[in-house]
Amino acid sequence: MSIYIDPAVAASLRGYEMPEKLGFGTVMAPVMFRAVCQDGCWSRGELIPYAPLSLDPAAKVLHYAQSCFEGMKAYRTRDGGISLFRPERNAARMAHSAERLCMPPVPESLFMDGVRTVTAYCANLVPANSGESLYLRPFLMGTQADLAVSASTSYEFYVIASPSEAYHSGNMRLWVEREDSRAAIGGTGDAKVGGNYAASLLSIARLKQRGYDQSLWLNAGNRQSVDELSGMNFFAVIDAELHTPALNGSILEGITRESLIELARDLGYQVRECAIDIDELLRRVADGSCEEAFACGTAAIISPISVLGDGGENYQLASAPGPVAERLRQALLDIQEGRTEDRFGWMQPV
Ligand code: COI
Repeated sequence: MSIYIDPAVAASLRGYEMPEKLGFGTVMAPVMFRAVCQDGCWSRGELIPYAPLSLDPAAKVLHYAQSCFEGMKAYRTRDGGISLFRPERNAARMAHSAERLCMPPVPESLFMDGVRTVTAYCANLVPANSGESLYLRPFLMGTQADLAVSASTSYEFYVIASPSEAYHSGNMRLWVEREDSRAAIGGTGDAKVGGNYAASLLSIARLKQRGYDQSLWLNAGNRQSVDELSGMNFFAVIDAELHTPALNGSILEGITRESLIELARDLGYQVRECAIDIDELLRRVADGSCEEAFACGTAAIISPISVLGDGGENYQLASAPGPVAERLRQALLDIQEGRTEDRFGWMQPV
């Protein structure tokens, strides 16, 4: 199906000025992509000016959180081109999230139309500095106005974009969250849904008052093994091997996580996807056999962890990025920003 381009798009783009300071997700591109689904039938996609949405106050999404989203990036490559990183993995994950919340998956071709069209029209908004990118945020929500607890019959899919810096720049102080849980086995932890993030906000507010940056979530079933951070996956370098929690149904299957595992193995590191016991991890940090820890995600890339706080204790890691985090970050960015051969076939030029 062809994409409808609203005639007002050209004027929105012409009048747009990219601010000097980007931050993360605060500056919005002036256009967005939209498609609607009624009773299982998708409309054609349209590119329209970025504007507030009009929603019925009884829309299901506002009451029963029937919505999911993705985070992905378009990169300026060394030759001046623009490429997306593994967009088909985001399309597949969004389909999984949608199915978990009883929503119709966005067809992969429509998802690709959305991210490609927004990126192509916002080509001038893809920053060229290393570590910066056009952050793309596809999302899907149930819009039917009806307060019954049942799946919506109507949905809207959008792609918005934001020229951005990396989300966290490093030296994060984590708080081991032993009270609340982010997601349970059988729940929605492995789906990218807003409710998981909402469930993490109270913990983040509490730990900020104590001088920390992010929660380190434990598995809700055993309260003993590490799951992930609120919007990032966790890695530790222990006895020179890379450890990351094995996917267990309550951890989001990060595309950066998956790519780093592949990249690290290719670079010769031993990578273990396994249960990481929190007390064992803290003991390893204390005796120095956990040499580094870092978090990763699309928005954050790789963000080193300098402290694990638990109870009254601070377990200190190196405050500078460790050599493994540094090497992996550079190797990943070198592929994404086109400085090295894309030997995994991850990049898709736009
Ligand atoms: C991402 O890394 O793209 C995320 O979705 C994490 C976050 C900013 C919510």
